[in-house]
Amino acid sequence: MTTGFTIWFTGLSGAGKTTVSRLVEKELRARDCKVEVLDGDVVRENLSKGLGFSKEDRDTNIRRIGFVCEILTRNDVVAIAAAISPYRAIRDENRARVGGRFVEVYCACPLDVLAERDVKGLYKKAMRGEIKNFTGVDDPYEAPENPEVVIESDKETPEQSAAKVIAKLEELGYISNHTI
Ligand code: ADX
Repeated sequence: MTTGFTIWFTGLSGAGKTTVSRLVEKELRARDCKVEVLDGDVVRENLSKGLGFSKEDRDTNIRRIGFVCEILTRNDVVAIAAAISPYRAIRDENRARVGGRFVEVYCACPLDVLAERDVKGLYKKAMRGEIKNFTGVDDPYEAPENPEVVIESDKETPEQSAAKVIAKLEELGYISNHTI
């Protein structure tokens, strides 16, 4: 029986993908799952080093992450991807690639909140035109139409968001119910 699956975090930069994915990783490890996180920022330093932010490069980046998720998933590992992944069609391609064992987590957050937070200082630069093609500012983001989970970092804590993901994994039967 296959026990692997892919959790796919998508959303704008700063919307909570990395933070919540790491909490989910921690919780799954505590439950003795084998887990690997593929975080956009880390992947771009390694597997996707040299790629930029054109549509073509983003698609290549997301397909590479999908390829690794496929390999992990079929070897009974929980693969967690956390990348903006702005294009719906490529995310759906990755869903199909893992045979539908795919839990899409949409990290929704209003642009004005992200621009206000601006942890990396990139939104201000993008709004001043110093960075071009910045997702959400002057580059597209296609929100999921039917994500398994929606988390909202402007309304809930990272712990609450992670708990929503874990609850959905239990509901879908990917992990068993946990009683402490
Ligand atoms: S994706 O579009 O290919 O999925 P990915 O998640 O790997 O993007 O990388 C996004 C990160 O790259 C952002 O969090 C930000 O730190 C940085 N970045 C640099 N330039 C851009 C840009 N033009 N658009 C979005 N993110 C950018």
